[in-house]
Amino acid sequence: MKSRNDTPAENEQSRKNIWSMFDQIAHRYDFLNHSLSLGQDIIWRSQVSKCISGKGFSTFLDIATGTGDQLIRIVNKVNTIQHAIGLDMSINMLNIGMKKIANQNIQNRTALIHGDALNLPIDSDSVELVTISFGIRNVIDVSEALKEMFRVMKTGGMVIILEFSIPKNRLFRIFYLFYLRNILPVIGSLISGNKKAYTYLNKTIETFPCGNEFCDIMKKSGFTNISAKPLTFGIATLYRAGK
Ligand SMILES: C[S@@+](CC[C@H](N)C(=O)[O-])C[C@H]1O[C@@H](n2cnc3c(N)ncnc32)[C@H](O)[C@@H]1O
Repeated sequence: MKSRNDTPAENEQSRKNIWSMFDQIAHRYDFLNHSLSLGQDIIWRSQVSKCISGKGFSTFLDIATGTGDQLIRIVNKVNTIQHAIGLDMSINMLNIGMKKIANQNIQNRTALIHGDALNLPIDSDSVELVTISFGIRNVIDVSEALKEMFRVMKTGGMVIILEFSIPKNRLFRIFYLFYLRNILPVIGSLISGNKKAYTYLNKTIETFPCGNEFCDIMKKSGFTNISAKPLTFGIATLYRAGK
């Protein structure tokens, strides 16, 4: 894993028990997500649902589901889904997600559970669709999380991973990194009241493997037919794979 300022040990330490940080910012998470991404996160999430339409999947697991934005969007857009589970380590994020699920009246098809991406409380070969949006960057052992996703996925199923990445275009990258390092942490800290959370955000984005590097890790975890699609000049990337 690349690093801008930190040693690998420091990177690992900063990801340890990261869900407790999400517990602290849960009340502001959705608002900050939409405002700091200038609404792009809504477009990225809809790209995920588009990949799934027409596939006929009925079982679905969204790992690191947070407040459930990705989960809820997919359940609402893909009407073949009958059993959807959102899993997260942060109780406060899940509590907000539960209210949103009740408001959308999709409780009969959607459940939220407390659990760890590194030790999924889910049977092997039992889920057709597995997603993780902006979550894989936060786990302490990326390969282990991918292997767990591969384990629970049914043969013939699909995994979709949405994650931040670093734009390839040099000029755009300069502007983006300036925003990421100087503007985003200030706005994020002011609104959430948590300075650490939004300094952590830019560090994890800059040090996380993206594009072909991430596809290689997916391949080593067992996935096949891996593809990577950059979104919004490569600020985010949508990875898709099968088993
Ligand atoms: C950036 S949020 C993404 C939430 C949601 N998927 C979204 O798209 O808005 C990252 C989430 O990962 C969760 N998380 C971090 N480590 C985890 C782990 N080991 N297992 C499960 N969830 C984890 C955090 O609690 C947090 O809710």
